[in-house]
Amino acid sequence: MRLSQCHNFQDFRKLAKKRLPSPIFNYIDGAADDEVTYRNNTRAFERCDLIPSVLAGTQEIDLSVTVMGQKLAMPFYCSPTALQRLFHHQGEMAVAAAAEKYGTMFGVSSLGTASIEHIAENFDCPQMYQFYFHKDRGLNKAMLERAKEAGVPIMALTVDSITGGNRERDLRTGFSIPLRLTLGGMLSFAIHPMWGINYVTHEKFRLPQLEEHIGMKGGATTTVSDYFTNMLDPTMNWKDVEELVKIWDGEFCLKGIMSAEDARRAVDIGCTGVIVSNHGGRQLDGSSSTFDQLKEVVDEVGDEIDVLFDSGVQRGTHVLKALSIGAKAVGGGRSYLFPLAAAGQPGVERALGLMREELERDMRLMGCQNIGELGRKNLRFR
Ligand SMILES: Cc1cc2nc3c(=O)[nH]c(=O)nc-3n(C[C@H](O)[C@H](O)[C@H](O)COP(=O)(O)O)c2cc1C
Repeated sequence: MRLSQCHNFQDFRKLAKKRLPSPIFNYIDGAADDEVTYRNNTRAFERCDLIPSVLAGTQEIDLSVTVMGQKLAMPFYCSPTALQRLFHHQGEMAVAAAAEKYGTMFGVSSLGTASIEHIAENFDCPQMYQFYFHKDRGLNKAMLERAKEAGVPIMALTVDSITGGNRERDLRTGFSIPLRLTLGGMLSFAIHPMWGINYVTHEKFRLPQLEEHIGMKGGATTTVSDYFTNMLDPTMNWKDVEELVKIWDGEFCLKGIMSAEDARRAVDIGCTGVIVSNHGGRQLDGSSSTFDQLKEVVDEVGDEIDVLFDSGVQRGTHVLKALSIGAKAVGGGRSYLFPLAAAGQPGVERALGLMREELERDMRLMGCQNIGELGRKNLRFR
């Protein structure tokens, strides 16, 4: 299978599976516990149908949206994800370049393998910086200051990960950073030599947002899971976050909001956005699908702040359904990570290009010219 034969999410997934050692593929593909929420995220879109308007005289389609002060040429963006350099040696550079090409937003993870400064200096795409809340308040402040200095316009605090999700596929393969593989995991690396050759012949794996703080520099001593256990603060609360929002004094959203009540509290502490997300089913298995939660969040706060959405999105029609409910923009994780793993920058560009084509075609078929024309009148729930 080649890149030109990839036409949808499942095709990219298949190609990524072929190219990656299984511990890495399963780190991307896997989710928590029985992966019920992971599956339900995508299935939820199938319980709701689009109703097109015909003879609408639709002319040029305008896919642009404005989210948290940033104009995106299309309403689909790349959600922040960790460790991209492991999936393909081009890592974040490939994703940022593709986001720039399609005029959309790139979420940089605090567990990213490229620095926020490098991305901000070299790529002209709106940048969202995702970070976690540490026990060390000084470190939190320092990270915000660093992002401000780099010129990052949107801060996103992930609130659904105060402890790591139970990813049993990773336990089976021995996936951790640094890698501590089981025998089966090692064998899989041996039968994917190209991945290893690319990994060792390109830029060194780093976590530039965190290396000063977790002992990654010059010989890793801490695993990423130790970082979650020892450095993040599982007791963070609304008061703590209110302080951060004040310090940041700009566009600030909470990533991982699942209820109207929490969305209301986000508004109360001064957030300018929320991302309805369950981390792609990687944290609390058995939690509701994000699509099922979107309506109550939009009804509660959609008139006051921007509601963004992710988890389970694989298709243009999924994006249109979320926008019809009232999301301002829709993110994807695996939908660009599999293309990245499959083919680097050309892979991500192909995935974003296909998404744009799908959105344009589907908007036309819906009889809508601008994203603002989408609404709940377009939807029927079964
Ligand atoms: C491999 C992988 C790594 C991720 N890393 C992060 C991260 O570092 N920070 C974060 O807030 N979310 C992270 N996420 C969650 C994504 O931002 C996003 O919420 C999720 O992927 C959406 O679900 P989807 O993959 O079904 O599109 C990660 C997701 C995946 C698949």
